[in-house]
Amino acid sequence: MARETLLFHLSDIHFGLEDNRALDWVQQEIAERRPQAVAITGDLTMRARHREFAAACRWIQALEVPVTVEIGNHDMPYFNLIERFFAPYRRFHAIEGLVEREIDLPGVAIVPLKTAVRAQPRLNWSKGWVSRSALRKCLAAIDALPPGTRALVAVHHPLREVGTRGTALTVNGRRALDELARRPVLGVLSGRVHDPFDLLEETSAGPVRMIGAGTLSQRLRSTPPSFNEITWDGETLAVRVRSLDEVPTPDMQIDDVPEDALPPREPGEPVAAVNQVPRTDPPVH
Ligand SMILES: [Fe+2]
Repeated sequence: MARETLLFHLSDIHFGLEDNRALDWVQQEIAERRPQAVAITGDLTMRARHREFAAACRWIQALEVPVTVEIGNHDMPYFNLIERFFAPYRRFHAIEGLVEREIDLPGVAIVPLKTAVRAQPRLNWSKGWVSRSALRKCLAAIDALPPGTRALVAVHHPLREVGTRGTALTVNGRRALDELARRPVLGVLSGRVHDPFDLLEETSAGPVRMIGAGTLSQRLRSTPPSFNEITWDGETLAVRVRSLDEVPTPDMQIDDVPEDALPPREPGEPVAAVNQVPRTDPPVH
């Protein structure tokens, strides 16, 4: 292979409460390193406000590299419930002309799988839900890839299904993982948690690699702002967590995907230590 494939995996920028120092740094890194693609795994905005999407558009356009963006639970109208029900993706679709939904790199393709839905038959609508049609669409895209091409599946919510249907982080996540394990999937890129991780999830059809990116917002959980630098040499997919503070990757990555993302820190509140014991407040994220 002539050149190693370099991909930047960003997530949870939350324009409206973004960390501008971190974003300036990432923009500079992208200009210098010229990754073949940037994958943003959701929560582009804080409350899906028009001005937040406008700021996101300006930032993405200035990158001048191919970008994919998945929809996160924060990217649907929050205050306007009528719009949320009848046109939940209208504001998000406004930026789709600027980005590419699916990107083909040498030997690897980024394939989206939607996990954010407008409403759910349970109390917490911010959690994930893989609908049958979303999964069907994703699997069809993987099955249509040229022979030998591997897939990186991009989602917002990690495909972790624990607890009951009411408490699961991502309903139908297990079914999705089982199907992905039967296909040439290098890994599942996700956001939502605001802490990075790189884990193998066992399924009945074999393991699936789950790669989470941290946040580039002020809504920190237990690690400072970061993104994932992913390289693919045709055989090995290597993930390195990049943080402004240059915290080593093993110290940045959490050991398990939490059942639910915990409330983030208040803006300005310092990160005392990475990988500290999570707080136990009720989830509102
Ligand atoms: Fe988020």
